Amino acid sequence: MSDQVKMTPLDYSADRPAAGNPVKIMDLSIRDGHQSLFATRGRTEDMIPVAEMMDEVGFWAIETWGGATFDTMHRFLNEDPWERLRTLKRYIKKTPFSMLLRAQNLVGYRNYADDLAYAFVDRAAENGMDVFRTFDALNDYRNFETVVKQIKKSGKHFQGCICYTLTEPRLGGEVYNLDYYVDRAKSLESMGADSVCIKDMAGLLAPYDAYPLIKALKEAVEIPIHLHSHFTSGMSPMTHLKAIEAGVDIIDTCMTPYAYRTSHAAVEPLVMALLGTNRDTGFDIKKLAAINEVLEKEVMPKYKHLLDDSKVSIIDINVLLHQTPGGMLSNLVNQLREMDALDKIGDVYRELPKVRKDLGQIPLVTPTSQIVGVQTVNNVLHDTPDERYKMITGQVKDLCYGLYGKTAVPINAELQKKALKGYPRGEEPITCRPAEVLEPELEKAKAEIGDLAVDMDDLILYAQFPVTGKKFLEWKYGKTEVPDSVKPITLEDVKKKDEIIKKAKAGELIERKSDEPAKSAALRTFNVFVDNEYFNVEVDPTGDVQVVSAAPVVAAAPAAAAVPVAAKPAPAADADGTLLLAPMPGMIVKYLANEGDSVKMGDAVVVLEAMKMENSLTAPADGVVKCVKFGSGDSVAKGAVLCVIG
Ligand code: CO
Repeated sequence: MSDQVKMTPLDYSADRPAAGNPVKIMDLSIRDGHQSLFATRGRTEDMIPVAEMMDEVGFWAIETWGGATFDTMHRFLNEDPWERLRTLKRYIKKTPFSMLLRAQNLVGYRNYADDLAYAFVDRAAENGMDVFRTFDALNDYRNFETVVKQIKKSGKHFQGCICYTLTEPRLGGEVYNLDYYVDRAKSLESMGADSVCIKDMAGLLAPYDAYPLIKALKEAVEIPIHLHSHFTSGMSPMTHLKAIEAGVDIIDTCMTPYAYRTSHAAVEPLVMALLGTNRDTGFDIKKLAAINEVLEKEVMPKYKHLLDDSKVSIIDINVLLHQTPGGMLSNLVNQLREMDALDKIGDVYRELPKVRKDLGQIPLVTPTSQIVGVQTVNNVLHDTPDERYKMITGQVKDLCYGLYGKTAVPINAELQKKALKGYPRGEEPITCRPAEVLEPELEKAKAEIGDLAVDMDDLILYAQFPVTGKKFLEWKYGKTEVPDSVKPITLEDVKKKDEIIKKAKAGELIERKSDEPAKSAALRTFNVFVDNEYFNVEVDPTGDVQVVSAAPVVAAAPAAAAVPVAAKPAPAADADGTLLLAPMPGMIVKYLANEGDSVKMGDAVVVLEAMKMENSLTAPADGVVKCVKFGSGDSVAKGAVLCVIG
């Protein structure tokens, strides 16, 4: 005891003797951290206060981009994703940047053509990206070929991922066993990977599987081994320690405020656990504490309302039982809740492994987790006793065609046949590298968007996100008004909201005074939930206010703040014909038939995006399309009348 008590502050300092083989750490706070905990809503302005401090820690790299950031930033935050890279580079000068790249899916949800893939990697490298952590949802490395060529050409670090997935409770079984992972690592090394990452997106890697796995990989390949293991199941701190004992080179962690739950273990306990050992990180714990203080005081208050606090427990037992990654699970729950079908969650859990098996035992990671998840929900909600897979999503059809690559085991032949009936590319699935059947798409995108895309960065954004990308470019160049729902909130806003909640809880909400002031353009609307009661609260800052936009906002904003809860549009009463109703809430991608067109029952009429999956909705009857209710990019509620056929 006495020796430990004598420890002086110097013992914690960064000038302690260096370890023989220090564990390298990549920080994920400002990408995977806020993606996992705060729906990727972190704004660049909230990363800047800690950026220079984080540059001083000594991280191997800081993950700043990729995954869902690109999508969320332009869609929900009115931020240019390219600009974030350039901005953060001005503050983080020493530490390399890392991004999560979905291989041929880039940062979107389907395989893009080679010309777009080359352009994207080239521009990401030019804008400041250093490490390209690349994964393919099917671990089909033919999907790496194009991006790797460009990563190498740009002189950057190619980190190849192996998505970690299981079919049994632990490592093993016929598909995902030790041999499988060793084989994947070797093939990554032979295609020029600078490091290999085990990407455990659902936190399924158990400590005593991590040990033999890392040992085997260290023996099989020369390049460094990097472990990315989500906390979700609660195992990852133990898994980290066993991986470190087995010789893993690099570990992913988050700063404490961005850690745990479906995110990653925190860095600070790991630094302390390894202090003075052969694998000591060498980090200065006081520097980490200083960063946390800024995050806690200046940043987290703006995001705490996004934290899923519906449960007290920070560990998700369902992931151990059902192997569903955290993000996928919350998507499923949200989707079911919006459709008033939350009671079907048990059915969804039962159906999910069946759908996954039918689709070739694919790993569950973006986009396959959405593909399997949405199809599962569709089956549970729409299948009848005599017909399974009644509503097959466009993405499942693409998967059956081979457009995502080769599945671990063959796809259920019956499902494949049904999915490919009338499939536009052909009814026979392909076996080649998927992008070989894709036409170049940059020029086509340029022709569509015209001068609204000012440079290549704009064009790449539009090419991956045609509907929301166009909307964003219109905001960016002042063609349309920026809706309030995508504007940032301030600490001042948060304080006011907290005050109101406090008063509401104490039963002190006061009556409106008759001499109430006029509402200003800086008015913000908040949905406030106190216990189970709902308040729609308008907050208007007083004193000197900088008014960003004085004009009323009329754009059809997704999830506009003032929409009353649980709004249910009534079907049009004057409709003379058969109504095509939205079977789920979503966003209109496009209409395939126009007013006045004749359609046959079963013809695809509308493409509706729900949970990032496109669903073709078919005509419920023969007839003429009479009334098209919405336009591309509009958000619709479940039950909305999309068109009338009569
Ligand atoms: Co992750």
